[in-house]
Amino acid sequence: MATIELNNITKGFGTATSSELVLDHVNFVSNAGEVTIITGPSGSGKSTLLTIMGALRNPDAGEVWLSGTQVNQLSQRDQDHFRLEKIGFILQAHTLVPFLTVHDQFRLVDQVKPTGNLTPAHQQELLETLDIADLKTHYPAELSGGQSQRVAIARGLYTQPELILADEPTASLDEARVTKVCELLAAAAREQGKTVVIVTHDDRMYPYADHLYELLDGQLRQRR
Ligand SMILES: Nc1ncnc2c1ncn2[C@@H]1O[C@H](COP(=O)(O)OP(=O)(O)OP(=O)(O)O)[C@@H](O)[C@H]1O
Ligand SMILES: [Mg+2]
Repeated sequence: MATIELNNITKGFGTATSSELVLDHVNFVSNAGEVTIITGPSGSGKSTLLTIMGALRNPDAGEVWLSGTQVNQLSQRDQDHFRLEKIGFILQAHTLVPFLTVHDQFRLVDQVKPTGNLTPAHQQELLETLDIADLKTHYPAELSGGQSQRVAIARGLYTQPELILADEPTASLDEARVTKVCELLAAAAREQGKTVVIVTHDDRMYPYADHLYELLDGQLRQRR
């Protein structure tokens, strides 16, 4: 069963006519165990598409199916619950809570989703892999761009989600760390059967993708 399926998604903003749709009847499927990369110029609608996949935003028309459930038909409350249980977001704005330390960013997740998260030992291992284990007492304002990006990645993986949606997850990372992050995301797909969808301009990530798409003029085209 497809883990994520988009059928005929359209989305415009404001007074968009059909010729200005950000997403113009987009279809997409991604299965468990696969890494998919979506690329495309700035403003082409990649983040819009990713937030629709993750039920953070509703399309104007079309269907979003996740693990056999049509999420855009659920009530707001059920969408929130579904998202929390099944989806890990690594968003373009790193969305760390400014008044919480790195350690407490994860405790906040525990409060809203108390079960099914990484054990303390596995969390520690993840933080060490991302080289942020020494930053637990730091506040977001005390982190570099790359450090806060890696905290956001760790937080996205912490809930062990079925679907991992990442928006430019390597934008502020150096070569070695890009490799680490790619290996983590690829392992999540290949070893744990997660579905991973990444929006990125970073061609260093392309070799890790099973499928590569380009979003252009509202259309999603498969490149490989
Ligand atoms: N909430 C919104 N209200 C109005 N217009 C929006 C909104 N969100 C996005 N847009 C518009 O939709 C288009 C696509 O935006 P989106 O953020 O999805 O692009 P993107 O491909 O992610 O770009 P980038 O590579 O710069 O992150 C842009 O023209 C943007 O201005
Ligand atoms: Mg974007």
